[in-house]
Amino acid sequence: MTPQLKDTTAPMATAITNISSLVTNNPSLGRGPLGLIDDAAVVIDGDRIAWVGTTSKAPATDSHIDAGGRAVLPGFVDSHSHLVFAGDRTAEFNARMEGRAYSAGGIRTTVAATRAASDAELEATVARYVAEALRQGTTTMETKSGYGLTVEDEARALRIAARHTDEVTFLGAHIVAPEYADDPAGYVDLVTGPMLDACAPHARWVDVFCERGAFDGDQARTILTAGAARGLTPRVHANQLGPGPGVQLAVELGAASADHCTHLTDADVDALASGDTVATLLPGAEFSTRARYPDARRLLDAGATVALSTDCNPGSSFTSSMPFCIALAVRDMGMTPDEAVYAATAGGARALRRTDVGRVAEGARADLLLLDAPSHVHLAYRPGVPLASAVWRAGVKVA
Ligand code: NIG
Ligand code: FE
Repeated sequence: MTPQLKDTTAPMATAITNISSLVTNNPSLGRGPLGLIDDAAVVIDGDRIAWVGTTSKAPATDSHIDAGGRAVLPGFVDSHSHLVFAGDRTAEFNARMEGRAYSAGGIRTTVAATRAASDAELEATVARYVAEALRQGTTTMETKSGYGLTVEDEARALRIAARHTDEVTFLGAHIVAPEYADDPAGYVDLVTGPMLDACAPHARWVDVFCERGAFDGDQARTILTAGAARGLTPRVHANQLGPGPGVQLAVELGAASADHCTHLTDADVDALASGDTVATLLPGAEFSTRARYPDARRLLDAGATVALSTDCNPGSSFTSSMPFCIALAVRDMGMTPDEAVYAATAGGARALRRTDVGRVAEGARADLLLLDAPSHVHLAYRPGVPLASAVWRAGVKVA
């Protein structure tokens, strides 16, 4: 069976013991902001965590797994991806590595391929990358529409995405559809009218690519407000390619997250630090577009909540690997390994407004990653090495 991010049936109580270092993300359970527990044990009962503590105090259970002195952390929460796509943009990547700049116009290539693809092809693609991420420890993954840009193609993308994850985002406003190139206002009317009608039932979130060459601040406000009126909570692609109104708009509208945050003014940083909107950083995009990385240190020092995500998509960031993003964030964005691991787990949960994932505590969903390493620091210390030794999602061992 292909592993998925939807719930299946979990077994009865199992204890994982002899964990060298357990990241709980709960400071009341252990040391520091990560709530680290040494020589730890976790009891899984059904789809939930039933007990957390030290091995010597672990209660008796039906079955038992010896972690062998290796580290455990919550499954990664990847709060930003674009998995409903078809086609390939290797040539565009190659051209960039020869010196060409990234352009959002490349999105049109994927739109054409996605429209031409069958439902089965799109379904297989989503399943493939969700499974690829799961094997690397991602147990919650948001994904978006945005490569259809017609009423039917956007609704189809969301229906397919919803079969693989509960975190589905309507991004009809990725770019202006090619048919509306001369009538962007007409496209905004389509997105906020018939497209939203068809898409709202299948999504939890509404997103806009607020950027020069995509949608300006006024258009983004119109679309996000219309989505919110239909019960979708906003999140925004903001300040990726240059400065702009996206971050401030996200905070003003109470968006769950402002994503990218690469080009920030001091006022943008202040807005993120004083509001509830999470700054979601996507270093895979800067890696794959050879752009400058966002300054996580500046955001953290100002007091903003930071999440790390993959942005997995065929154009700007074709990685499903949260460990890769953690390594980049530590090496190039001024984050400590602790901060990066927190951002990739608890930060992502905040960006999705979830309290059941991204932490290891009694009552949380039993989403756990056992590393083939003695501590979570190895995720950055051993870049590029596949360290996921076992993965549980909702109590089921999936990898
Ligand atoms: O998040 N920025 C807009 N959307 C994607 C890129 C999509 C693409 O190039 O196909 C992103 O980087
Ligand atoms: Fe994106």
